[in-house]
Amino acid sequence: MPLSDIGLIGLGVMGQNLALNIGRHGFGVAVYNRTGAVTERFLAERIASEPIQGAKTAGELAALLSRPRKVILMVKAGSAVDAVTADLRPHLEPGDILIDGGNSHFRDTARREGELGAAGLRFLGAGISGGEEGALNGPSIMPGGPKEAYDAVSKVFEAVAARGPDGSPCVAYLGPRGAGHYVKMVHNGIEYAVMQLIAEIYDLLCRGLGLPALETAKLFGEWNRGELSSFLIEITSRVLSRPDPETGRPLVEVILDEAEQKGTGRWTVQDALDLGVAIPTIGAAVQARILSAMKDERTAASKILRGGGNSAGREPGVIEDARAALYAGVLCAYAQGMELLRAASEAHEFGLDLAEAARIWRAGCIIRAALLEDIRAAFSGNPDLPNLLVAPGIRDRLQEREPGWRRTAGRILQAGIPAPAMTASLSYFDGYRTERLPANLIQALRDYFGAHTYRRLDRPGSFHTDWTESGTGRV
Ligand SMILES: NC(=O)c1ccc[n+]([C@@H]2O[C@H](COP(=O)([O-])OP(=O)(O)OC[C@H]3O[C@@H](n4cnc5c(N)ncnc54)[C@H](OP(=O)(O)O)[C@@H]3O)[C@@H](O)[C@H]2O)c1
Repeated sequence: MPLSDIGLIGLGVMGQNLALNIGRHGFGVAVYNRTGAVTERFLAERIASEPIQGAKTAGELAALLSRPRKVILMVKAGSAVDAVTADLRPHLEPGDILIDGGNSHFRDTARREGELGAAGLRFLGAGISGGEEGALNGPSIMPGGPKEAYDAVSKVFEAVAARGPDGSPCVAYLGPRGAGHYVKMVHNGIEYAVMQLIAEIYDLLCRGLGLPALETAKLFGEWNRGELSSFLIEITSRVLSRPDPETGRPLVEVILDEAEQKGTGRWTVQDALDLGVAIPTIGAAVQARILSAMKDERTAASKILRGGGNSAGREPGVIEDARAALYAGVLCAYAQGMELLRAASEAHEFGLDLAEAARIWRAGCIIRAALLEDIRAAFSGNPDLPNLLVAPGIRDRLQEREPGWRRTAGRILQAGIPAPAMTASLSYFDGYRTERLPANLIQALRDYFGAHTYRRLDRPGSFHTDWTESGTGRV
């Protein structure tokens, strides 16, 4: 076989499917996996006519590649990326390109780019979204790193990426260092938030209103044909309609209610806190997973603590209101994600184009949604848009849904059903649109106990009051 165009290390679900996708587009691929049996099984069972060859060692892989070598790493994020890089490095030459396609932390990506760059190697951090199916048939690819390294691999990326509604590939050069992994991290943060919002509405419909899972599945199916059209709503409908072959009950009802997490949601919140960006819907989604994991404690507390009725009245309009609440909450999640991208781009000097980020999320990835075309258009029309919520068109849709959103929040809270992401979204909306918040009192309290000073509305300067003096401040 001639030398391959690209190498791929790590034949987990993502790696196998991405190798097949690249091969199907006519590029020669050489693959290597730490556990050799996995490579052998992949070559024996999954290859049809794709130009894919296997290697037994990292050195053998390097020898199978045309120069400059291009190698995609699709291994577990964290130390595995460093281990694989160390294994491969002695077999590489200056100018070769390593592409980390896993969910690495953007700071690790920046560090690796620096370390490898010192040896003349080029390192790209490329977030890849779409799961197993996307990797095979067209993912959304979020690359960052040296621009000339991106240019050297862009042909492969553009060939294998999903196509957006206008036919453009869902990949774009996003910026230097960890820009690509940053965008992927925020993508995952939004994914956490949207999934949590969906779960809260499912809880309202099933537990609160008593709808059977199958009826709820139909509702999500209907919603997927309208403004909420998205991959996550579509698969919610599919999941809710699947019976458990053993019990005959809806499968979702026999699944343990402990949500797991691998870290990208938490990283999103951590960096937002560091940058001082409010992303309460995403934060609530991460916290909700933490609370869900405390199953034994929750079970014990459920026998002691009472509250709410766990059911909501089925008055007219309740379903339509729930749909409005879901739409508005989802909008807030995207708005917060875009705000974080903007702040990160400034702080980390990524030079991100927010319209491009929204464009490449329109297909292939887990958060793909009809709404993303509106988001792309909003930032393309006005790159300095202060917040997605005030974009013309989007703000009108949000305002129209606001009464139903508020009624839904009232119903869900009254019923005692937790809805942290929905209520955080509504408070985000209310906080953002409120000219005078009670932060004046917070400033006064800070000044009282810590002499932190405050500013006044009626004149410039910093002020401090001796709150314990005689008068209204006396204790
Ligand atoms: N699964 C998804 O839906 C998805 C979606 C987007 C992004 N990602 C990201 O894509 C990457 C790959 O994900 P995945 O789900 O396909 O697989 P994974 O379970 O995260 O990783 C499995 C692969 O990593 C290799 N590996 C683990 N530790 C290693 C080490 N110390 N040295 C060398 N190789 C090591 C494994 O080799 P062995 O066979 O030898 O164990 C295997 O090939 C991850 O970063 C993941 O977060 C996954």
